Amino acid sequence: MAWTVAAKLSDLSEDSAFAVELGKTSVALYLVEGEVYATSNICTHEFALLSDGFVEDGFVECPLHQARFDIISGRALCAPANEPIATYPAKVENGVVLVDIQ
Ligand code: FES
Repeated sequence: MAWTVAAKLSDLSEDSAFAVELGKTSVALYLVEGEVYATSNICTHEFALLSDGFVEDGFVECPLHQARFDIISGRALCAPANEPIATYPAKVENGVVLVDIQ
């Protein structure tokens, strides 16, 4: 595990994704029912930032062609995306969000 400081917990909200670059990895952070999650911020269909999309009830919708992904599992829930997005371990310590992108 290589935990990296990614954001402050206060940066996150339940209705949007927070974008952060960790090294060369574009990561989206989410707050779902009080728990922090991290995924790749890049859609697996074409190039779009999921942090520009719509977040609700544990899924994120791509802003370009409206594919939906499960934030917790990364699973693609509908076309046009077939491939899941990467998910990363995330945790909160003292109000700081830590992500392991290894
Ligand atoms: S780029 Fe995300 S659904 Fe097409």
